[in-house]
Amino acid sequence: MSAEREIRTFQRPALSRQRGHDAAAGAPRSDFAATDDYIGFCEGLRQICGIDLTQYKRPQMERRLRSYWSRLGVAKLTDALPRLRSDPAQLDDLLDRVTINVSQLWRHPDQWARLEGGLLQELAAGGRVRAWSAGCSYGAEAFTLAAVCSQAIPRATVKITGTDIDQRMVARARLGEFSDADARGVPVPTMQRSFDRLPNGWRAKPALRSMTHFEVGDLLKVRPPASSYELIMCRNTVIYFADQIRDELHAKFAHALRPGGVMVIGGTERITDAASLGLAPIHPFIYRKS
Ligand SMILES: C[S@@+](CC[C@H](N)C(=O)[O-])C[C@H]1O[C@@H](n2cnc3c(N)ncnc32)[C@H](O)[C@@H]1O
Repeated sequence: MSAEREIRTFQRPALSRQRGHDAAAGAPRSDFAATDDYIGFCEGLRQICGIDLTQYKRPQMERRLRSYWSRLGVAKLTDALPRLRSDPAQLDDLLDRVTINVSQLWRHPDQWARLEGGLLQELAAGGRVRAWSAGCSYGAEAFTLAAVCSQAIPRATVKITGTDIDQRMVARARLGEFSDADARGVPVPTMQRSFDRLPNGWRAKPALRSMTHFEVGDLLKVRPPASSYELIMCRNTVIYFADQIRDELHAKFAHALRPGGVMVIGGTERITDAASLGLAPIHPFIYRKS
């Protein structure tokens, strides 16, 4: 995919984090009648910054929101909306609580071992690997993949696109810098091969940085072209979505994989009726498209 095409595909969610620009977020949706203060709050937030919390699992999200606002003395969620409209710092702080950005280098080590131990070589048979880290947070997954590819398939052309709805995470990912905590459990020689030492962490070497590219993008809105990736990793992201939304996202990923391509999901996740999407499990939490 050309750079220009990619940017169009992963365009920043029109509404994402553009505080105070209600008009940019479009008109209120008639199907979201404010039946209670949770729904009213979600609709208000969607108008303020474009993030649609109604697509996430309600019990967890509502618990997080109510406890956040009750600590600030706000009992009714819709009463918090004027504050979010007028105070960008408050909006930032709230979004920090509701988007869960936890990540780590070489997270789920078994999966990296599978990729390194043969799968990447198969995917690179045509000379290139186009990979998508969907819900990339601050880039630990994308940079781990870059490091693993540089060892396993050094001659292939590798292009890794990381996307996340949270523009602050994308800005961090572009730096390619990680803390010592991010590298916990990773052998020091492994880190040294691909990262330069910083006083309190690590920075990805230029070769890795040239393999990676990060864009702000809402998984619910992007429309990746068919067969455009050899590898898609979407781990620990769809768990926050309602089941139907999760299934739709998996279908979107399957569509974006080229035949023979591989999809990796999180170690607590599953794909409902993978066969109907043309996906067959090849290892735990790893699927191949037929
Ligand atoms: C727990 S992190 C997972 C990071 C990485 N995939 C991993 O497994 O270490 C989940 C990420 O999904 C992102 N996210 C949540 N909803 C999203 C959406 N609608 N579109 C894109 N990213 C989203 C969050 O901002 C967060 O950075």
